[in-house]
Amino acid sequence: MFDVESIRKDFPILDKQVYGKPLVYLDNAATTQKPRQVIDSISDCYLNTNANVHRGLHFLSEEATRQMENARETVRRFIGAGSTQEIIFTRGTTESLNLLAHSFTRAFIKPGDEVIVSCMEHHSNIVPWQLEAQKSGLALKVIPMDDRGNLDMEAFEGMLSDRTRLVSVTHVSNVLGTVNPIRDIVRIAHAHGVPVAVDGAQSVPHTGIDVQALDVDFLAFSGHKIYGPTGVGVLYGRKSLLEQMPPYQGGGEMIGRVSFEKTTYNELPYKFEAGTPDYVGVIALASALDYVTGIGIDAIAEYEHSLLDYAVERLSAIDGLRFIGTPAVRSGVVSFLVKDIFPSDMGTLLDHLGIAVRTGHHCAQPLMDRLGIPGTVRASVSFYNTRQEIDALAAGIERVAGMF
Ligand code: ALA
Repeated sequence: MFDVESIRKDFPILDKQVYGKPLVYLDNAATTQKPRQVIDSISDCYLNTNANVHRGLHFLSEEATRQMENARETVRRFIGAGSTQEIIFTRGTTESLNLLAHSFTRAFIKPGDEVIVSCMEHHSNIVPWQLEAQKSGLALKVIPMDDRGNLDMEAFEGMLSDRTRLVSVTHVSNVLGTVNPIRDIVRIAHAHGVPVAVDGAQSVPHTGIDVQALDVDFLAFSGHKIYGPTGVGVLYGRKSLLEQMPPYQGGGEMIGRVSFEKTTYNELPYKFEAGTPDYVGVIALASALDYVTGIGIDAIAEYEHSLLDYAVERLSAIDGLRFIGTPAVRSGVVSFLVKDIFPSDMGTLLDHLGIAVRTGHHCAQPLMDRLGIPGTVRASVSFYNTRQEIDALAAGIERVAGMF
């Protein structure tokens, strides 16, 4: 266990007051707060090493390039990838999944081929495939779940066919908190010769992931959900697959040689990084990963798990509260409804008590349809949250519920 009070000192924003109340920030699944180390890394880049990367021969450009490529190595190590050629920098999970959908479809999908997703996907792992389906004729298949929010693995196994080209599933549901059994999903899919893509937006910051140990073929995640800056993310891809996939965007950096007759493309990973990358964001993302590594992802997972258990225990005692999602294994979030209070009313009134939660459909409308509800109230934790903050949440919910 680590010292949460000393960790909180690294996050200046946590000392804020809102509406005269101490901030209780429980919207970490939407975005996390940034430690001083990450903020310093951003200002250090602009104060000391700013120059465009991979282009200049001058001192600053070489220094910025060196730091960016060191950051790529930091990411590689963090997710256990075999090579930095497999680490593509993007704007975030959404762009990573759009890149994947576009380039994978062009390389591997013929009309009538199938991609399997789950019923608990974020829109960013649904809509990119629908956009590609309009052009390519691919069909989307959806893994169902039980009423607690656990995927139906038997149904999944029965869904794989000789037309299945990819399984693309979330590791952790941003609504239910379900930790999906990626190891089993990969084993089953690979037995059919089908690769697996994982949306790690909600897992990489909380449980970590080792892409080689789990043998996943693609992994997408965002910097801003793992204490890094906004506007930067990662797509990991297995080199043998990425090599067969065409570029996503055209421009600088991704080319080998351009002529009006024929253009060739750069080697991995630059083939997928058109234009000036957010090198400052990439370097700051590495600072965030170093910060997380300094605490230890196992210690983080253990602490957050105990905090969530405590939240479930405290909230269970509230009259009229029902959980949305009681999965076998949970990470990061707890969603609930209280009596027939609209989630947005609960969220607004909690906000006036200084408590930040997210309400609504959480960019997972098909999941809301499956559950037969328009939305939920969601509290999502980080390692800088405390039991006292969970107590404040429980007291806040009780107070709001009492007003109705
Ligand atoms: N996808 C983010 C969330 O679940 C924004 O809150």
